[in-house]
Amino acid sequence: MVNINSHEFMESSPSELPQWQALEEWRRSFASRTIASLFKVDPGRQQRWSFSAGSVHIDVSRNWIDENTFGALLTLARARDLEKMRDALLNGEAVNTTEHRPAWHTALRTPPGDPSVARSLDEEQRLFLGFAEALRSGRIQGSTGAPFDTVVCIGMGGSDLGPRLVAEALGEPSGPVHVRFVSNLDPVELFTALQGARPEATLVLAISKTFTTLETLENLRVARNWFDAAARPLDATHHIVAVTAHPDRATKLGVHPKRIFVFPEWVGGRYSLWSACGLPIAIAHGHEAFLQLRAGAAEMDAHFAQAPLETNLPVILGLLGVWYVNFWNARARAVFPYAQRLRNLPPYLQQLEMESLGKRVDVDGRPLTIDTGPVVWGEVGTAAQHSVFQFMHQGTHWSPADFVVIAEHARSDERRYRLLHASAIAQADALAWGDSVLGGERSSAAHAIAPGGRPSNIISLPQLDARSVGALLALFEQRTFVQSVIWNINAFDQWGVEVGKKLLQQRLDREPF
Ligand code: F6P
Repeated sequence: MVNINSHEFMESSPSELPQWQALEEWRRSFASRTIASLFKVDPGRQQRWSFSAGSVHIDVSRNWIDENTFGALLTLARARDLEKMRDALLNGEAVNTTEHRPAWHTALRTPPGDPSVARSLDEEQRLFLGFAEALRSGRIQGSTGAPFDTVVCIGMGGSDLGPRLVAEALGEPSGPVHVRFVSNLDPVELFTALQGARPEATLVLAISKTFTTLETLENLRVARNWFDAAARPLDATHHIVAVTAHPDRATKLGVHPKRIFVFPEWVGGRYSLWSACGLPIAIAHGHEAFLQLRAGAAEMDAHFAQAPLETNLPVILGLLGVWYVNFWNARARAVFPYAQRLRNLPPYLQQLEMESLGKRVDVDGRPLTIDTGPVVWGEVGTAAQHSVFQFMHQGTHWSPADFVVIAEHARSDERRYRLLHASAIAQADALAWGDSVLGGERSSAAHAIAPGGRPSNIISLPQLDARSVGALLALFEQRTFVQSVIWNINAFDQWGVEVGKKLLQQRLDREPF
């Protein structure tokens, strides 16, 4: 068992470690070099800096990195006891130190029947996946006997972004039920989701870990009124389902106990799509797709647990994250998914990373003297090229980027898919090399110069299926954890969010609605 607080090496800030100072030296060694020059001295660079885990492939060759720097980053990771901390996470130890509980979402991804997983998790999974199938087949119906054809999911943050992303990433629903998502308090979103829906064939799925989130409860209240106002009278309790870690609160608000699916308190909101919170995914795409999603994530977890740090994808990406924030002063990181179905990846990653890594004190409560999580931002490609890429190529400060591409697009017979893939690679090349690669077409005008030297990763999935998406999201989760270990912060709490919530409550108490 690892003592998460107060490691002997945690007496000081990570920046006081000799390994940190070594990295500062290596950073200076890049002053007179270019990314292009790194390729020039090593013709096998792209191959050397490409790594795979199962079906996920990353090419990190377009980074300010060489053997020395990478070696120094790995030494820093070992000095921070990364392997032990990883094992603590994966073994369900209380890594969420301020809330005194594990962050054991990886346990949700182990196959049913695995002896390491509590039987209650298996049972809960059986219940909600069974419900999804019964809904899809029409065996579960509304109070008037009509099969459900529309599910409106109401949730916020982690209770919305993950299920929303995956449900869309897997394409058109494979069954008869259409799933829509609502999070905003602005009435427009719920209004739009309910437009055209028939109350007798509509199910509202309220997803909330705490079942106290204002936006979710308000939207649920309005949805209940919508059922009550239906032209043909119906029993709203047949039309409302809750997913929560606090079933008592859902029951108090009138949700029928048999229509509540639960998940453990130790599942963090932004890590909850693998629990019953993933019900919308199973409803839209079937339970097999949901199991495949989890299996892909479990494969990435196994890789994270077992692969040497040198070839470990979450470790490599996490260390690059630290490298740019702390040694290159990069305050942001961009993500550009080159797949329309992944258009919700940027907001999902914003919550995952900014809620996990936006911290100002270490795990012992001491103010940090180093920077932590960057701003995460992004946009779907190729639209991004025609909006934000001016900043990427010529802005005075830069943002390392992740390009997420689908390999089968590169090989596709469909011309637009090949163009999409080629566009991503061309952008990554242009960022790394700048306009120097244009040769004769290069302009000497100052305003036309793109200096290059702007790093990016290519993250490639073979295709956009449930297994690959599961692996991709687990890769991002574990990368986030790696960075938190180096920075000595808790990736699993979000106390800052509470301040705004409490102020709103005080205001509401003064001026009741
Ligand atoms: O306010 C932040 C937050 O707590 C997120 O961490 C969470 O994902 C979201 O709100 C929704 O919370 P809940 O699932 O409890 O409604």
